[in-house]
Amino acid sequence: MRIAIYPGSFDPITNGHLDIIKRGSKAFDKLIVAVLINVEKKGLFDIEERVKLIKMVTEDIHNVEVVSFEGLLVDFAKMNNSNVILKGLRAVSDFEYEFQMALMNSKLDPHIETVFMMTAAECSYLSSSSVKQVAKFGGCIKGLVPDIIIPNIENRINN
Ligand code: PNS
Repeated sequence: MRIAIYPGSFDPITNGHLDIIKRGSKAFDKLIVAVLINVEKKGLFDIEERVKLIKMVTEDIHNVEVVSFEGLLVDFAKMNNSNVILKGLRAVSDFEYEFQMALMNSKLDPHIETVFMMTAAECSYLSSSSVKQVAKFGGCIKGLVPDIIIPNIENRINN
């Protein structure tokens, strides 16, 4: 069984992430969405809330599992019998950061393969940070994130 890990901060999940999850779930037998800690980023949602939001929008995809993990991605992959890390690439600007992480992960575990999928063109400008910024200043986030999580984001930002 081909198991892939789709890791990220997902603070919160966007339509760009969801696009990769949907396509990834078709390319692999099982896709584990792993909410991990990025030490470079301060979070809006705590880790368990991020997991809850991802579960809300992926519940109809039967081969997707959503979990959180505090530690190294390569250790998480090994624990889950996977050697494939799936990542989305939006633009050339993502490349350097993703290339560096892919190389670091393969240094930590040479069995790990990082596989990239190009983000859908209509999602290529999307990021969790820009969604948070738009929401913070009262802009409309419809179309940027799944509709059912919009109230959660607006409540969190306004309270
Ligand atoms: O969505 P992000 O913030 O770009 O995802 C980055 C993430 C969470 C995948 C990365 O920071 C990560 O793998 N964190 C876990 C710790 C780890 O394994 N670090 C080594 C890789 S450089």
